[in-house]
Amino acid sequence: MMKKIKRIITSFLILSACFSGPSFAKAGDLASKPDSAYLFSYATDKDNNHNGLHFAWSTDKKNWHRIGPEHSFLRCDYGRWGTEKRMLSPYLIRTSDGLWHCFWTLNESTQTFGHAASADLVTWGRQSYSTTTDDLSTYNPSTPAAYPQDGRCTVVLYDKPETGVIHKVPWEVVDKLIAAKDMVAYKDRIYSETTQEDPVRFASLKPFNTTVIVNGNQKKPISDLLVGAFFEDINYAADGGLYAELIQNRDFEYSPADKEGNDPAWNSKKSWTLKGANASFTIDSTQPIHPNNLHYAVLKTDQPGAALVNEGFDGITLKAGDKYKFSLFARTLDGKNGKLQVRLTGKDGRIYAEGFTGGLSREWKKLPVTLTARENVSDAQLEVVTRTPGTIALDMISLFPEKTFMNRPNGLRADLAQAIADIHPRFIRFPGGCVAHGDGLDNMYRWKNTIGPLEARKPQRNLWGYHQTAGLGYFEYFRFCEDIGAEPVPVVAAGVPCQNSACTHRGGGQQGGIPMCEMDDYVQEILDLIEYANGDVKTEWGKKRAEAGHPKPFNLKYIGIGNEDLITDIFEERFTMLFNAVKEKHPEITVIGTVGPYSEGTDYEEGWELANKLNIPMVDEHYYQKPGWFIHNQDYYDKYDRSKSKVYLGEYAAHLPGRPNNLETALSEALYMTALERNGDVVHMTSYAPLLAKEGHTQWNPDLIYFNNEEVKPTVGYYVQQLYGQHAGDEYLNSRVILPEENDAMQKRIASSVVRDSRSNDLIVKLVNLLPVPTQTSVLLKDIPVVEETATLTTLSGKPDDKQAKPVTTTIRVSNDFDIDLPAYSFTVIRIKQNNINLKSK
Ligand code: AHR
Repeated sequence: MMKKIKRIITSFLILSACFSGPSFAKAGDLASKPDSAYLFSYATDKDNNHNGLHFAWSTDKKNWHRIGPEHSFLRCDYGRWGTEKRMLSPYLIRTSDGLWHCFWTLNESTQTFGHAASADLVTWGRQSYSTTTDDLSTYNPSTPAAYPQDGRCTVVLYDKPETGVIHKVPWEVVDKLIAAKDMVAYKDRIYSETTQEDPVRFASLKPFNTTVIVNGNQKKPISDLLVGAFFEDINYAADGGLYAELIQNRDFEYSPADKEGNDPAWNSKKSWTLKGANASFTIDSTQPIHPNNLHYAVLKTDQPGAALVNEGFDGITLKAGDKYKFSLFARTLDGKNGKLQVRLTGKDGRIYAEGFTGGLSREWKKLPVTLTARENVSDAQLEVVTRTPGTIALDMISLFPEKTFMNRPNGLRADLAQAIADIHPRFIRFPGGCVAHGDGLDNMYRWKNTIGPLEARKPQRNLWGYHQTAGLGYFEYFRFCEDIGAEPVPVVAAGVPCQNSACTHRGGGQQGGIPMCEMDDYVQEILDLIEYANGDVKTEWGKKRAEAGHPKPFNLKYIGIGNEDLITDIFEERFTMLFNAVKEKHPEITVIGTVGPYSEGTDYEEGWELANKLNIPMVDEHYYQKPGWFIHNQDYYDKYDRSKSKVYLGEYAAHLPGRPNNLETALSEALYMTALERNGDVVHMTSYAPLLAKEGHTQWNPDLIYFNNEEVKPTVGYYVQQLYGQHAGDEYLNSRVILPEENDAMQKRIASSVVRDSRSNDLIVKLVNLLPVPTQTSVLLKDIPVVEETATLTTLSGKPDDKQAKPVTTTIRVSNDFDIDLPAYSFTVIRIKQNNINLKSK
């Protein structure tokens, strides 16, 4: 970086623009425009959150015209999204090779500055951040503008003095900046279209007839893994959610540091209280069960009947007659070894279930008890009650329903796991998202910390602001994938933490990667993961899988390296090491790279460039967009080069203001998914994000499935995913929707996708109508002989803001040419059974 800066500074062309006037175009040559102008570059101030590089132009250096003014042409990517990403005192220079370079100070406290380069001031390359001043004699971290100061001017823009740099540039440069700004504004306007304007947009639209032509002999194979699920421990998705453990803070490892701002109440005692007189409850760490699990409770009592009480996650829900598996680790500290009573009680003291442990010893011992619930309740608490006076140490106090998903020990909550299984996801990506690469280096998800005996796993702060027990760890993820027939797609950090890492603490943010001297070990850690999943039981890590109860390999085929990272030099160096190592040692594994958090922009461009350079077989794209973006970008993948990397659209969702998950968002996703199926030759996998959210503990909306302790609440978007998952195909048949008139707004809101599923040989027709009127649609199946028969018809429809819409399934008669009513705002799936179709269609 510093060498680069030195080169740049050396070749820096001394700014001349402050000293000479612009010339004007000759007659006939851009007649009305100057052929050059002054371009002033500056950054907005504190009131505007220092949000990036701005421009203004002038022909006389007196009258200035802001290009925007709200438009930032370059934003700093350092630190957390929001207030930490700031640009102070940008300094723009142009080098003899024609490239523009922008340097800026990151903030008032970090002795670091940023750099990015651009050929046209519109598209900027990757950013780098440097704190070293060795090669840059003028750099002085104590001043905000710590690089060459020559040529800085103050210009009054609309009565406000701004400090920046003036360059004289050809008018085309200014023109391009204005066009770029206008294009952003235009896109923002069309992408902001919602159904609220439909009464005006489609004021004269009446129900109409349309035809869908399906060409049976224009077909192509598509991915059979198109619809999957992305599980991340966000919104209490794991602990308190999918992971069936009912006791909160079972390991006494909650820590104030789990919470932003170090919440002192979030400590080892969180969720635990002491009941009974003449007793004390303290936390100790002198003789833990395992060094990874340092803290444990010490209960001292002078008389029997004192209890440690756990509130569960918003209470404990019990079902009458069901069995619950309780266990704890305990030891007596004073040799008194009486049994413990275990009770599930109401706040009023009512007992819903009870049992006794075996006797305590001087050493840590695991003591299991099976409890049977007497009543249906939602707010029980757990009591571990002493029967004799004495001092005891307690840890890993756990309660699981016996009925977990597929009755697995240390298993998953059955109803939630079933809801995921019902999507028929062909793969599951885990454990994140941002959780995978963590908030700073010390928060990365290290898979080895999450396997083996629960008491030896290493819990940690969840970057979404709570605690992660790692009880749901890599073994459980692999097992769940196997249980539901989904390919496992683990994602590991690319040697760098989340680009949203804070820059003031916890590892210094995205710009710091794992030190290169530790990268060999990290590379080995990832190779070990592959051995853990697939290796023979005689290998070191394969043996550990066998010890966990799974001698057979998990048949891992994919591994994600990185998660929407900033594509920096630091990233590239580490990613390349990991990619090359996996490719060399495990050519059978498909590596999935990453191209940033957006559908365009620097990380996307730089990520794709890297993918092309390294020949990465697949890249993970992410975009959360407005419904209008999905409506207007149905051709996004039609433009993709089929010879380059395949795409895993690993995170996407339609976001309306207020972030609901309703019929409007769901239909815009359904509409877009017709294009994903059409592009199933380049888009290999897709997954909506995020998947789960516990009511009352949600950091992100919308999500696919909301839940509380008793209920699972699938959203409208869930049903869209489910319909695509359950009605997936592996062959795409060309289809076209023909409207009665040429109308772009209508054409973009009605779409079809037709696939055949080779397993059943069923033909599946999907139709989306995002218009406010119904259409009578004639479906013409050309070159697909269909015997007149019944087929299933599933429709999801309602009002755009409907959050309760559910699919309704019925049957219809079909033939080669059949009619179907598409309700206003609807998604329709017609599944034509195998026996209806002559399979030898041309
Ligand atoms: O899906 C929620 C978050 O969105 C993921 O953790 C991250 O990858 C993305 O920014």
